[in-house]
Amino acid sequence: MTHKWTPKSWRDKPALQLPDYKDEAALKAAEDEIAKFPPLVFAGEARSLQKSLGKVAKGEGFLLQGGDCAESFAEFNANKIRDTFRVILQMAVVMTYSGSMPIVKVGRIAGQFAKPRSSDTETQDDVTLPSYRGDIINALDFAEDARTPDPQRMVKAYHQASATLNLLRAFAQGGYADLNKVHKWNLGFVTDSPLGERYEQLASHITDALRFMDACGINANNVPSLRETSFYTSHEALLLPYEEALTREDSLTGDWYDTSAHMLWIGARTHQSENAQVEFARGIKNPIGLKCSPAMSTDELLKLVDILNPENIPGRLTLISRMGHKDVIEKLTPLVRAIKSEGRHVVWSCDPMHGNTITSSSGYKTRPFDNILGEVKGFFAVHKNEGTHPGGIHIEMTGQNVTECVGGAESIGDEDLSSRYHTHCDPRLNANQALEMAFLISDELRSLRNDEAFARESFLTSAE
Ligand code: PEP
Ligand code: CO
Repeated sequence: MTHKWTPKSWRDKPALQLPDYKDEAALKAAEDEIAKFPPLVFAGEARSLQKSLGKVAKGEGFLLQGGDCAESFAEFNANKIRDTFRVILQMAVVMTYSGSMPIVKVGRIAGQFAKPRSSDTETQDDVTLPSYRGDIINALDFAEDARTPDPQRMVKAYHQASATLNLLRAFAQGGYADLNKVHKWNLGFVTDSPLGERYEQLASHITDALRFMDACGINANNVPSLRETSFYTSHEALLLPYEEALTREDSLTGDWYDTSAHMLWIGARTHQSENAQVEFARGIKNPIGLKCSPAMSTDELLKLVDILNPENIPGRLTLISRMGHKDVIEKLTPLVRAIKSEGRHVVWSCDPMHGNTITSSSGYKTRPFDNILGEVKGFFAVHKNEGTHPGGIHIEMTGQNVTECVGGAESIGDEDLSSRYHTHCDPRLNANQALEMAFLISDELRSLRNDEAFARESFLTSAE
């Protein structure tokens, strides 16, 4: 690709999954309005994230990316943001402690509104209307008005993202994430569960370690990382008019950053190399994610890697595989081999959600927790076989006590789905299931560490 990139060069490319805005003047007015708004994130923050991801690409860390499938206007409140934040903190602390690895925390939050759909329209009885594409585009109600794309929704989404980010920054930097509060992160309804108890034990070990460190003179007053954390935001780079309006030239470097989030990813339905979303993503300097579905060939992947990371910078590109638990070994192995043999630096992350969606007998879209864990285990197995680093996890989860994915320690059954099924799009892990997943991953990371230590020792012994 040699043609010149600009924030709007995507407009000359075929674009899938974009809404059909009927009123062009209203669209232009909304874009112009957002283009004048302050950036939501700062380019330097995106660079810090890329640096951390660069370490992950080299095997020195693990990416934890999670949050809603789709944020909504109706469920926008402080408790919900806090609960998502604290489950991510809990998961991260479990993984850091047992895996002895820095965990890079990235939320699917503060901008994760737009959704790709398998069909442009939805028919109920004899009525056909545009599909719901996320609150940034239209509304969920099945009515003509609600389903008509409204560009002013982008303005509303910007303000919601801005307030969400403000609270997240306060939580991350203002004392909430202080490791001395590790017991307080356990949510009420989790505390009494087996997972909650396991978490409490681990939290007590951390508290003991902090007391010991304090006695040695190391504490939150002199080591800020004990008291605050880095938390980044991300969403799918789907709705390009919104993303373009927030793309700004960094005054320090002259590079372009999409300031709507620290990290953007390209979805499985919009990763065609000649299309608009790939064109947009190639020119922004934020770290980029690329979803890899079972249909992706090694040639296609290598071509996209060339386009998105021509300079092979570690941390620039995260490949997020979502193969389904049955196919993960067969489909992921050739991609991992190709990337390794071509010497490409990437973070390999596992999305165990999107390849494991089924419709339950009660009619709800769900994801069996065992299948989700099965894909995570398969992901670790592939990387162990290939000698590559399993670098991260990408999940749809919430801190609320929802019943959307069947299974897990509380054994949520088909019949329970209706009781607290709140998602606006795909089924999410609840806090208990998310914590269970964190313990599973921490076991995998620990065994990885042990294997590495064993390999080092054998090497030293054989060299003696
Ligand atoms: C998503 O992450 O919500 C999503 C739609 O995923 P995918 O593009 O992998 O289907
Ligand atoms: Co989803």
